[in-house]
Amino acid sequence: MNTLIKDIEIIQTEQPIAADAPVRVLANSEGKRKLYIESYGCQMNFSDSEIVASIMAEQGFGTTDRYEEADLVFLNTCSIREKAEQTARKRLTEINKLKRKKPDLIVGVLGCMAERLKGKFLEEEKIVDLVVGPDAYRDLPKLVSEVDNGQRSVNVLLSREETYADIAPVRLNSNGISAFVSIMRGCDNMCSFCVVPFTRGRERSRDPQSIVAESKALFEQGYREITLLGQNVDSYKWAGEANKKETDEAEAAGKPVVSFANLLEMVAQISPLLRVRFSTSHPKDMTDEVLYVMKKYDNICKYIHLPVQSGNSRILEMMNRTYDRAWYIDRIKAIRNILGEECGISSDMIAGFCSETEEEHKDTLSLMEFVQYDYAYMFAYSEREGTLAARKYADDVPEEVKKRRLQEIIDLQRNLALQRNRLDLGKVHEILIDGESKRNSEELKGRNSANKVVIFPKKHYEKGQYVKVLIKDCTTATLFGEVID
Ligand code: SAH
Ligand code: SF4
Ligand code: F3S
Repeated sequence: MNTLIKDIEIIQTEQPIAADAPVRVLANSEGKRKLYIESYGCQMNFSDSEIVASIMAEQGFGTTDRYEEADLVFLNTCSIREKAEQTARKRLTEINKLKRKKPDLIVGVLGCMAERLKGKFLEEEKIVDLVVGPDAYRDLPKLVSEVDNGQRSVNVLLSREETYADIAPVRLNSNGISAFVSIMRGCDNMCSFCVVPFTRGRERSRDPQSIVAESKALFEQGYREITLLGQNVDSYKWAGEANKKETDEAEAAGKPVVSFANLLEMVAQISPLLRVRFSTSHPKDMTDEVLYVMKKYDNICKYIHLPVQSGNSRILEMMNRTYDRAWYIDRIKAIRNILGEECGISSDMIAGFCSETEEEHKDTLSLMEFVQYDYAYMFAYSEREGTLAARKYADDVPEEVKKRRLQEIIDLQRNLALQRNRLDLGKVHEILIDGESKRNSEELKGRNSANKVVIFPKKHYEKGQYVKVLIKDCTTATLFGEVID
């Protein structure tokens, strides 16, 4: 069914594992009835939309990138911050206008917001016909046929086993070079600010053989970069069953287990021409073993997204992150000792968490200075109903203080990124070309191992090639250079 797919430009998410900003739309494919999916939030949601498209394709549904043409409109939603949910609601209001003109249109809400609000959605948003949580997508054909028969349908059951391991995602939006491969689902960490454990359910790992098979197939189709995805990849563990409890019991009984370090090595061995990335690492679980595997394989990219959230130990404890400032610094030192200065490091930061003082905020700034992050995703704390923090702590940092602290974090990060990028001037980096530069079709773009975007003149080079680029200039976000033969 992939033959008639029209390529549209990917609206690239800025965040590997969680964002509420960019929206991504799946492109066109053939089918009797047309499905339009819009995805919000993190890469997990974007990957899930490709699974949804695959499940619906089995039922004869094609996809379209124009919602005016659609018979079905799905919004795959995010709940991570208040703003993410507001965006989805605004979008539903717009879709409502279309539905008035086209009463047969089916509107479905998928993903984290569906899970969080469940049946309440059908009462609150009268135009919604279908509410489906992240573990219930196999049920979509049945739910859609219920809607066809005049009902409104909900399935928000979470599962301890579902990993969609056997479903080949329909990669409609890909550049043909980089792909994301889900290695686990859910999260057991219960950080006090976070809705993910409620919206995505319990942590479970996917069969490593299915991960390797999917990655191999992608390589054979011409893909050259795989990003292994999970909320906490370091706790990936497989001992024959997806169910985490059974996995832990099997491990305790001495059965062999596949750890994240083992999995990383298995994927890296597919081909030296296949780059391997992963996201997200958790500071409490990131082991030296993983760092040594990264060192051993040139094709495992030297870049780690290691979100700290705050640089202050009291706040980290209230956040239930289960590490403190000293522990985090130790992990950074391990990265620098084993992988050197060139390894890219990025983070997530939350400004103005409950009861955060000015001094504690300064600890975040000083930690950022210490680490010298290449990149960071920065947010003001947004209280989420039902989370530990919402139940236990007052959201008492005034909005304008949160905003000002966030701005200080952003300003500092801009300087740090520029300083880090300047270190690359005059150096030669290996770049995997993933397409044309957005601004100039005479230029190509790609990333270096440390995940930095590099732009250079096109000449005769092509997408999918590895080239050596001498870095000559930089901004806070981009490196510029020229290919050396
Ligand atoms: N599993 C990843 C992060 C997933 S959520 C990890 O543990 O690092 C992505 C990011 O969104 C978080 O790292 C955090 O910085 C931010 N975030 C989550 N909940 C938030 C909230 N209630 N308010 C503001 N930012 C939040
Ligand atoms: Fe949320 Fe924490 Fe799990 Fe990340 S590790 S998804 S922040 S609960
Ligand atoms: Fe991702 Fe948002 Fe859900 S960040 S896991 S889509 S709440």
